[in-house]
Amino acid sequence: MPVTLPSDAPQTLGEAFARINSVTAPTMTDLKVMVLVEAAGQTLYEKSAEGAEDARVKALLIENGHEEMKHARRAAEAIKILTGEDFPAPAAADNPYLTGHIPVAAITPEGLRKTAESEFNGDALYARWADSLDNADAAELLRANGREETDHGHRLLEAAAILEAQA
Ligand SMILES: [Fe+2]
Ligand SMILES: [Fe+2]
Repeated sequence: MPVTLPSDAPQTLGEAFARINSVTAPTMTDLKVMVLVEAAGQTLYEKSAEGAEDARVKALLIENGHEEMKHARRAAEAIKILTGEDFPAPAAADNPYLTGHIPVAAITPEGLRKTAESEFNGDALYARWADSLDNADAAELLRANGREETDHGHRLLEAAAILEAQA
């Protein structure tokens, strides 16, 4: 079943990214937006991987995407801990943020490095969100996501280096 967006949630993926990047202490709506954005992240990486000719680069992108869905599940678990509410990570077909334009990362060293930068920023964002929570278990779930965003950044830098070595 398609997920219904909270009434005070951004309506598009682009607005959702802008919203979560501007928040330091998330509301429940922000955490729900994060569930949907992370779940969409898997599709974004898969679409980007389709544009990658090198098998190693493709595999690195797909691995990142797989972990984005894990992040969505952890964010959903944090919501459950904090409020008792079920807000499970949706499949791509049920994600309201995947109905419009899907941005695809440029598979060039520069494009991959730019995406790496947003992944490193994602780690810092999760750390700020975790600091704002009183519940230690929910905070640790967000920190675990953040640590893996740094892994994503490193994978993207590795992918950039692979392409550069071929140039
Ligand atoms: Fe993530
Ligand atoms: Fe990531």
